[in-house]
Amino acid sequence: MSSEKQVIKVLIVDDIPDTRENIRKLLAFEPDIEVVGGDGAGTGREAIDLATQHKPDVVLMDINMPDMDGITATKAISTAVRTAAVVIMSVQNESGYLRQAMLAGARDFLTKPVSSEELYATIRRVYDRNEPIRQQEVQMSSLRTAVSREAKRSALTPSVGAGHVIVVYSPQAGAGVTMLATNVAAALMRSDTSVLLVDANLQFGDVDAFLNVQSTSSIADLAKAVSDIDQEMIDSVLVTHGSGLKVLVAPPHPEMAYDITSEAVKEVVKLLAKSYDFIVVDTPTQYDDTTLKLFDIAERIILVANPTIPSVRNIRKVLDLLDGLKEPAGLSDKVLFVLNRVVPERERGRGAVPTASIETHLKHSVAAAIPLDDQAVLTAVNQGVPLVAKMKSRSPGKELVDLAALVRKTVEQEKAPEESPQTGEQRSKSGIRALFGGS
Ligand SMILES: Nc1ncnc2c1ncn2[C@@H]1O[C@H](COP(=O)(O)OP(=O)(O)OP(=O)(O)O)[C@@H](O)[C@H]1O
Ligand SMILES: [Mg+2]
Repeated sequence: MSSEKQVIKVLIVDDIPDTRENIRKLLAFEPDIEVVGGDGAGTGREAIDLATQHKPDVVLMDINMPDMDGITATKAISTAVRTAAVVIMSVQNESGYLRQAMLAGARDFLTKPVSSEELYATIRRVYDRNEPIRQQEVQMSSLRTAVSREAKRSALTPSVGAGHVIVVYSPQAGAGVTMLATNVAAALMRSDTSVLLVDANLQFGDVDAFLNVQSTSSIADLAKAVSDIDQEMIDSVLVTHGSGLKVLVAPPHPEMAYDITSEAVKEVVKLLAKSYDFIVVDTPTQYDDTTLKLFDIAERIILVANPTIPSVRNIRKVLDLLDGLKEPAGLSDKVLFVLNRVVPERERGRGAVPTASIETHLKHSVAAAIPLDDQAVLTAVNQGVPLVAKMKSRSPGKELVDLAALVRKTVEQEKAPEESPQTGEQRSKSGIRALFGGS
């Protein structure tokens, strides 16, 4: 009975004003439909702004638009306004985009030119299908209000951390990024240092397997509600490893990565950084918008290579890319270059390149050389216990402990000279130069 008089709020998105106007006229006759957002949106960005502002129930979305295409906008809107059902409006020859649109969160599609009957039926259908999500949102928002009221009442002071973001990356698959991220995170932990390990390998993250932790929630749960994250939600999503290390695991299914924007990953990491002294981020091989955004907020980038020619060549490319990213110095200033799977000199002969040659070639010092040790690494993974917990004073645990100490030293060194607050980017410059003996 109560849903009888519900009005469906519709936002129209199309870069052609006449198309918007025609659809608006068609919808004007329907008493249960209300067009929101004035004349509608002419660009993807406008669509995101208007959707966030007006919280429409249905968004009619064009695909080709000047600044941001409809698929990217669909992804952003589906994440930001969960109750908005996006309907893609495409012309016949754009059908190839439909799969992408569906993966981005679109609920239905219409072929242009849109007939009035089809338009009304589609709007009502997607609106009805979204009823459970609206209900869930109502419950979630009352829960959030109750939680935030309670937090205010008990004058809950959020825990404050130094917020050093350390991103571990390699352009080469299997170089040892996850092994390094888990071990550096574990080795950074102390009674006076809180550490969070974030698995940002959104499709095939395996930090949970390395540490043998299970969780039904993941980074996907925080990414889809970035603006509403509160302490309660964080506590329910993070898992605690037996060592006390906090972990934010990757989504359980690869396709869930499509619903996570790079901006959301960045915001989640920035937000969590406020509560921890160190946030160590495991990343996938792709050099994409997500990795770039993470590099940008990182105070240190641990760049991982194996001592082989292809691996080192890829590192050269990444260093060049990082150098070109920010003026005047470039992001490569933040890099701690780590060689993993290093074989002792006398056992070399399997094509491994000497460390000194790599340093000369890259013009970058090796901050740590982690020995190859199949047995030790495999056992640690099988047991779900980081190497650094078991073999602090023996290779390869020793080198990993030293690397963590170096990470701590370089970020803490920079805090010392002046107490004025600085950004991660500002903080990163001088320390690395000092560490590697000049510019
Ligand atoms: N120093 C090492 N000695 C022996 N084995 C190692 C070493 N470092 C990593 N490994 C092993 O190599 C494999 C790949 O390591 P890891 O998963 O950490 O790499 P990755 O860069 O995260 O890979 P992916 O690209 O799949 O995310 C794992 O089986 C790991 O146990
Ligand atoms: Mg990995």
